[in-house]
Amino acid sequence: MSNNILEVKNLTKKFQLSKERKIKAVNGISFEVKKGEIFGFLGPNGAGKSTTISMITTQKEATSGEILIDGQSFLDNPAQARRKIGVVAQHNNLDRGLTARENLIYHAKYFGIDDETANKRADEYLEKFGLTERQHDYVRSFSGGMAQRLKIARAIMHNPDILFLDEPTTGLDPSYRAVLWEQMLALNKAGTTIFLTTHYMEEPEKLCDRIAIIDQGEMKAIGTGEELKALIPTNNIISIKLSDIKNEFVEQAKTLPEVENAAIQNGLLLLYMKQEHPDFNQILEWVKTLDTSLQNISLSTSTLDDVFIHLTGKGSISNDEKK
Ligand SMILES: Nc1ncnc2c1ncn2[C@@H]1O[C@H](COP(=O)(O)OP(=O)(O)OP(=O)(O)O)[C@@H](O)[C@H]1O
Ligand SMILES: [Mg+2]
Repeated sequence: MSNNILEVKNLTKKFQLSKERKIKAVNGISFEVKKGEIFGFLGPNGAGKSTTISMITTQKEATSGEILIDGQSFLDNPAQARRKIGVVAQHNNLDRGLTARENLIYHAKYFGIDDETANKRADEYLEKFGLTERQHDYVRSFSGGMAQRLKIARAIMHNPDILFLDEPTTGLDPSYRAVLWEQMLALNKAGTTIFLTTHYMEEPEKLCDRIAIIDQGEMKAIGTGEELKALIPTNNIISIKLSDIKNEFVEQAKTLPEVENAAIQNGLLLLYMKQEHPDFNQILEWVKTLDTSLQNISLSTSTLDDVFIHLTGKGSISNDEKK
């Protein structure tokens, strides 16, 4: 038996946008997910994360490539593969014409779960996700966050071997975010593999055993958080706090000879220096020429955000989220 719950080989998805325009949303990616892992799938908007999940979870057909769930291609036995998979899609795919409870029960029935177990699980998850009071209301009357909570509850009703969560915290307030992670960690402890995409960098860094970074349909890196951080130089980031920060400073900084790249993150100007342990004096000279005053300057170590910027050339996702 393989240690991998999921094997993806040379997976590709092309979309025909119009007669002339075709795009490769996923461009020949290969990776494995081990049984029992929490696996993070990170990438900027449009990277191909949701498309990849849709193909793995049998909702979209791949243009080419191979997907093995627990060593088996689901083309041989789609029903059995679906039984092993749970998915919280990025979009709201609840049945709006059913009540919250009916959404859960019908889902469990589809997977052949007996009434008693289905009702017990529905009670438990409705309670956990704060929906007991609203369980007999139609889903079309739900707020975005309530619908999201119900989608999560529904995905785990049939106790899947691998659970795909496509940006599951979107729309959740901090307290339900905590409930989600508590529930995911409990499921993972009981043996469920978790496959997660998220826009919040702190989450994968804290939770994931391994992380893949994808951009423009291609796999850029895969490994533990520590392994990914080792891909970029350390002790080469100068973090600058200014009384007033402007986007033009980033462009200016990039033209300085010692600076490899620059970005604004959480209100700080970050300079990715070419050398480790860089010389602060030259940077201080430059800051003096700016139309602002210096509040703090320090050397910082790399975070997953920095790896992301380095590999995709795009600004931090968590930073975009806060703008
Ligand atoms: N049904 C579709 N038809 C045409 N193009 C599509 C379709 N679905 C996705 N795409 C395109 O495929 C690319 C990847 O999209 P995808 O939704 O997989 O990205 P993502 O990484 O999930 O992004 P986000 O972070 O915004 O959710 C994008 O360029 C998108 O426009
Ligand atoms: Mg997506």
